[in-house]
Amino acid sequence: MTYGELYKFTLNELKDCTDSPSVEAGMLFRHCFGFDRVKISVNSDKSADGEAVELLYKCICKRKKFIPIQYILGESIFYDFDFIVGDGVLIPRPETEILVDEALNFIKESGIANPVVYDLCSGSGCVGISIARLLPYAKVYLFEKSDSALEFIKQNVELNQVTNVQVFKCDIFDGVSSELPLPDVLVSNPPYIPRADIETLQPEVKKEPVMALDGGDDGLDFYRCIRNKWLSEINTSVFFALEFGIYQSDDVLKLFSSVSDDARIIKDFNCIDRVICGNTVK
Ligand SMILES: C[S@@+](CC[C@H](N)C(=O)[O-])C[C@H]1O[C@@H](n2cnc3c(N)ncnc32)[C@H](O)[C@@H]1O
Repeated sequence: MTYGELYKFTLNELKDCTDSPSVEAGMLFRHCFGFDRVKISVNSDKSADGEAVELLYKCICKRKKFIPIQYILGESIFYDFDFIVGDGVLIPRPETEILVDEALNFIKESGIANPVVYDLCSGSGCVGISIARLLPYAKVYLFEKSDSALEFIKQNVELNQVTNVQVFKCDIFDGVSSELPLPDVLVSNPPYIPRADIETLQPEVKKEPVMALDGGDDGLDFYRCIRNKWLSEINTSVFFALEFGIYQSDDVLKLFSSVSDDARIIKDFNCIDRVICGNTVK
C-alpha cells in the first residue's frame, strides 16, 4: 500500500472508535513513520512497507478495542510539557491545567519567595511536576498511593528534569505528616466519580485505573479527607485548589466553606464548574 492508501485505511478503521479520526490518524502516522501532516501528503504515492506498517496495524487494532490513544503512544501533553503515560495511570486532562494556573497566580500575587506545594493524588505527576518546572524556586511534594502511578511519576520526574520535587508513597486517608514543611499551597485532582457511575463511563475511561476514578459512594470521600485530615490539621493558612466532577459544585463548596472564607468555584473551558479554590482560615 502507498502512504496515501494507508492513511485512508487508517481514517476508515478509526471512524467508529473516535470523534476525531483525522487527528488520531495523524498522531499514529507520526508515532509509526515520524510523519507530520505535510509529509503524509508529500509521500502519499510512495509505497509503505516494513516494520512501521506492522506497528501501525497493531496500534489501530488497540484503538479499535478502545485503548486510549495516549496509552498507545505512551505519552500525553500537559501544560505544554511531555508526560509518559500507560496502563496503570490516569491520562492528564486539559481541564486539570486550571490547578496549575491557580497555584501560579496565588504564588505570584502573594510574593512567597520559596513556596512549599503539596500535590495530593499525583497520578502521573502532571500537576506537581508542571508547577515544579515553572517555579524552580518552589519545593513540591507529591503524594500517591498506587505503585504503578509512582513508577510513572519517577519516569516523569526524570523526563522533565525537575530536582525540586519529592515523591511519597502515601495513602492520603492517613493524614498529613508532621515531619514535612507546612505547605503554602495544596493542589489535588483526587478520584471523584461516584462508585455506582463507574460502570456507565465511556469505554476508554474504563481502561484507566479504577483507583484513579472511584470517589466512594457519593464521589466526595477524598474532599472530606482533604478538608478534615489535611487542611484542618495544618496550622497555617493554606491556599488550596481542588478539581471536582460534574454536579459536585454545591456539595464541595459547602464542605470547604467551613474552612475558608473565600472559597470560590472556577469553570472549565466548557463552562462546567470544575475547580474550588480558596485560603483556609487560621
Ligand atoms: C483522578 S487521578 C488524578 C491524577 C493526577 N493528579 C492527574 O490530574 O492526572 C487520582 C489519583 O489518586 C490516586 N489515589 C487513589 N486513592 C488514593 C489514596 N488513598 N491516597 C493517595 N492517592 C490515591 C490514584 O492512584 C490516582 O493516581
